[in-house]
Amino acid sequence: MDTRAALKEGMAQLRAAQISSHTLAVELLLMHALGRDRAWIYGHPEQLLDPAEAEKFLALIARRAAGEPVQYLTGKQEFWGLEFEVTPAVLIPRPETEHVMEVALARLGERGIKIHMDTGAPRKTLRVADVGTGSGCLAIALAWELPHAEVFATDISESALEVARRNAARHGVAHRVHFLRCDLLTGFGKTDPSSVGVGHAMPASTQNVTLFDLIVSNPPYIGRNETAQLQREVRDHEPHAALFGGPTGVEMYQRLIDQARELLRNRGILVLELGHDSAQHVRGIFDAQPEWNKIAITMDLAGIPRVLAAERAR
Ligand SMILES: C[S@@+](CC[C@H](N)C(=O)[O-])C[C@H]1O[C@@H](n2cnc3c(N)ncnc32)[C@H](O)[C@@H]1O
Repeated sequence: MDTRAALKEGMAQLRAAQISSHTLAVELLLMHALGRDRAWIYGHPEQLLDPAEAEKFLALIARRAAGEPVQYLTGKQEFWGLEFEVTPAVLIPRPETEHVMEVALARLGERGIKIHMDTGAPRKTLRVADVGTGSGCLAIALAWELPHAEVFATDISESALEVARRNAARHGVAHRVHFLRCDLLTGFGKTDPSSVGVGHAMPASTQNVTLFDLIVSNPPYIGRNETAQLQREVRDHEPHAALFGGPTGVEMYQRLIDQARELLRNRGILVLELGHDSAQHVRGIFDAQPEWNKIAITMDLAGIPRVLAAERAR
């Protein structure tokens, strides 16, 4: 089988299995099986695959046809221009989560806090938290963009944190991103630490409560009542702890907002990703708490209210 025949065969199998974006999936899986880029594959249509490569490729096609997401098969996904390792222990980072990055950086930028260290020494250390870090995509991309930031990333899942730690090392920010297994922000003192034991000690300096400048989160926000509507790739393969926020999906927001309120410094910023129909509910939580101002919602490219940002007034 040559590369042209491999592409053709893969496409026929994925089309028959009614896999969406099957052309892209076949290209990515062939690139992965051969360790080549797209230009090489299309530049070498008559290159024969050796038997091991052909076997590997066809096994990947069979798994994709059975519903496994391409990203778990190739072990990677790009986010904010950076490549992240993904395994079935972590949610596959989504493009809409990049709006959390945009909103957070824009709000910091308005303050004149330098985003890039292009003019020399950082003028201020930023203290940032990412709640429910998964692959670490938000925590690591923020550390990447903010060289003067110290980032604290939490997750309830130790196996997710293992992936996130590897991603931090891969992008050279492991010394500035500290991972903590805990329930939401309960590892940081002012909130109730009793609900989940902290599995990993924080550096000694972080044991004292120092308030955050920025807290971001893409919390689980799908309702258990929406399970039947989910794509099987999501429902059967992504970690349920990353997907489901409770019976209706909005359940995590109240606790998260209450905890963030206690842990943000004056003018500290909270940026939350929203589920497709949770904007009204989440906005209501902020409106009921006088400690917040500058509340704003940003739409995603599909016109869905996707990110809510607010500022803590002390
Ligand atoms: C929607 S995923 C987001 C992952 C990543 N931040 C992203 O944007 O791709 C939610 C994450 O929150 C974690 N999580 C769920 N419940 C949690 C809790 N009570 N406390 C901390 N993390 C939690 C899940 O394990 C999962 O990694």
